[in-house]
Amino acid sequence: MKKMRAAITGVAKYLPERVLTNAELETMVETNDEWIVSRTGISERRLVSKDQATSDMAIEAIKDLFDQTGVTAGEIDVIIVATVTPDMMFPATAAIIQNALGAKNAWGFDLSAACSGFLFALQTGASLIESGAAKKVLVVGADTMSAIVDYTDRNTCILFGDAAGVVLLEPTEDENFGLMDHMLYIDGSGAHALHQLAGGSRLPASAETVANKQHFIYQDGKAVFKRAVEGMASASSDILKRNQISGDDIAIFVPHQANKRIIDVAAQRMGLSPDKVLLNIDKYGNTTAATIPVGLKEALEEGRIKDGDYVVLAAFGAGYTWGSILLKWGPIRSK
Ligand code: COA
Repeated sequence: MKKMRAAITGVAKYLPERVLTNAELETMVETNDEWIVSRTGISERRLVSKDQATSDMAIEAIKDLFDQTGVTAGEIDVIIVATVTPDMMFPATAAIIQNALGAKNAWGFDLSAACSGFLFALQTGASLIESGAAKKVLVVGADTMSAIVDYTDRNTCILFGDAAGVVLLEPTEDENFGLMDHMLYIDGSGAHALHQLAGGSRLPASAETVANKQHFIYQDGKAVFKRAVEGMASASSDILKRNQISGDDIAIFVPHQANKRIIDVAAQRMGLSPDKVLLNIDKYGNTTAATIPVGLKEALEEGRIKDGDYVVLAAFGAGYTWGSILLKWGPIRSK
């Protein structure tokens, strides 16, 4: 029997309107535009409005995907939401999205793998398609990082932004298209270096946890940077080696956008010329699970992906979690 592959047949994104520039951050913490741009590549980021949460951004992106593809809510079998900033601890943001869309035939769940969340969710969705258990899966990457950023901490507040992206996965019998390979990893020995300590069962919310600022992101930037460079670079170059292809065969590399310097090292290790690297960190900063679907959408909008092209996705994040996915691009649905 021929192996059923999962292919991306629709992509959409949502960026909130509010722009937080480096100049504005200079008025909030002891920092400057030159430092932020040279150390990270970030010039500005987007933030939700007061009444917006993660599900609101995801719903906007999915509605746009439905508009583009003609697919309707009732056709969706599964909704997977990669996020570390769900609307609430439970129920799952996937449930809130399902209800808002009226996706009456869907089941779904949230997946927590931080900046690698979209890759983990994409591979999970693909496995459901490949097994025959689902025919249409929405894979969402969405994060409201502004909800857990301490805007008095210059080490972290310059880095993050809010956004949502979504892809539609469907089966294809054409062996030439779809998700071709994945290399995904988790190593919990890095948990101390990047986390949100309180609010879970280990350290429930209390007046003390709030006073101690333990509901905000904590990051040991140097430790994470070191591991991120190695993780992103090895995962992205190893997947090329395993599939016996080179940087020349890749049309575009869509990496997680945490720091431009990390992306540069990964691209170099893959032997890619800069024009083959999707970079939008300057506009959006690190939007955690949203960076890759947002990047994919921008690459399509810019005409940088054609049917039959090899595309590599790669990420590194809290956990630690990291990895890469190799895709052969196929036809996108349009109305
Ligand atoms: N503005 C100005 N100075 C700042 C600053 C800011 N916003 N933030 C930190 N600094 C200072 C530090 O306090 C430090 O000063 P010191 O030497 O007097 O202590 C100095 O700048 C250098 O800090 P350092 O941490 O060495 O900078 P860096 O080059 O490592 O860059 C990060 C910091 C956070 C940009 C970088 O470590 C990073 O990108 N880390 C990984 C992020 C990541 O991939 N996360 C995973 C996914 S979420």
